[in-house]
Amino acid sequence: MVKSKKFNAGDLNTFKNSIFITKTSEETRNLGKKFAAVLKSGDIIFLKGNLGSGKTTFTQGVVKAFGNKGFARSSSFMLVNEYDANDLKLFHLDLYRLQPSSVWDVGIEDYIYSGNISLIEWADRLIGFENDNHWNVEIENTGSERKIKIEKQK
Ligand SMILES: Nc1ncnc2c1ncn2[C@@H]1O[C@H](COP(=O)(O)OP(=O)(O)O)[C@@H](O)[C@H]1O
Ligand SMILES: [Mg+2]
Repeated sequence: MVKSKKFNAGDLNTFKNSIFITKTSEETRNLGKKFAAVLKSGDIIFLKGNLGSGKTTFTQGVVKAFGNKGFARSSSFMLVNEYDANDLKLFHLDLYRLQPSSVWDVGIEDYIYSGNISLIEWADRLIGFENDNHWNVEIENTGSERKIKIEKQK
């Protein structure tokens, strides 16, 4: 795996504003697994990228890192999947089926402001979201390789 900075799992600065290249879905899953180590109560993670870019694959690594046996599936037909994250909950939300206009009608606040950890696919549908300190994980599909940009403002 090629990365732009020295890789120390669990080190916040490893993930803040970094770019990673993964060559296989396993590497993307492993990146999610390592990223999970920096997550804490209240964190909100926006997962961006085209269909099939690897948002769910990345999430599978995060889910696994917290010791969950179940494998995260693409939750496009379901709004929320819930997993354990130590003494917290990990919510995997997929907004693909929602219109941006109705996204706030389904109680999303109850998850993302609950003090747990929320990973959100298709988070660009969250129009009017006011929080300038979420994680952004943006995946670009360049053939079999994925360019994964991870950012956090503060
Ligand atoms: N480097 C890679 N990282 C992630 N997925 C990859 C990679 N190379 C190939 N793939 C494949 O791309 C697909 C990604 O699907 P998925 O994670 O469900 O995407 P999304 O949730 O963004 O729609 C999977 O079929 C996976 O096996
Ligand atoms: Mg998906």
